[in-house]
Amino acid sequence: VADCTDADKRLAAEAAAREVRAGMLVGLGTGSTAAHAIRAIGAAGLAIEAVATSEASAALARSVGIRVRDFAGVARVDLTIDGADEIDDRFRAIKGAGGAMLREKVVAAASDRMVVIADASKRVATIGAAKLPVEVLPFALCYVADALAAMFGVVEARAGYLTDNGNPVLDCRGARVDNWRDLARRLDAVPGVIGHGLFLLEVDAAYIADHGTVTRLER
Ligand code: A5P
Repeated sequence: VADCTDADKRLAAEAAAREVRAGMLVGLGTGSTAAHAIRAIGAAGLAIEAVATSEASAALARSVGIRVRDFAGVARVDLTIDGADEIDDRFRAIKGAGGAMLREKVVAAASDRMVVIADASKRVATIGAAKLPVEVLPFALCYVADALAAMFGVVEARAGYLTDNGNPVLDCRGARVDNWRDLARRLDAVPGVIGHGLFLLEVDAAYIADHGTVTRLER
């Protein structure tokens, strides 16, 4: 099963990588599926530049010959290809199992087009079963954990983990959600919350691979 899932991740990634054209500035996602895309983009050998959503993806990209720019000097990206933990029929996604959700969201927001790549296990009717990661200002950790406990049934600190930005992550589950946009607004309104893995508007398209067959979905 694991091999089949990884083969599907690779197929979805390779299909999305074929959207990359010479001259583009490409946003590189993070995680095992995005890693397949980075390798495929490198293998294609096109004259592109990239920005990366994590130090790990930047290192992988450089190792396969992709020129990686510092995102701090970039305001607009042509195409970003990234994985997800869940994606639903309305192109809403939960991301951040790998902890990169804040940089991923910034790069997605800067992108003309944001494409999610995934094996079929990530495709759900409605998001919400996956843990929702929240990146927190260290100074505010206890205050934010308390505020989130009023919104979620379970709030767990990711033990021994800091993001590339040097911040801790709280993994949240069990919210009673009628309206995801409202939940996102409430999260964004907590002082000390720096980012979270709810992607409600960013995703433009998805490539989903299921037992060797890739389906492209456009919003
Ligand atoms: C990284 O923080 C995440 O948003 C990943 O994109 C997501 O967790 C998917 O990762 P996999 O492709 O490894 O499942």
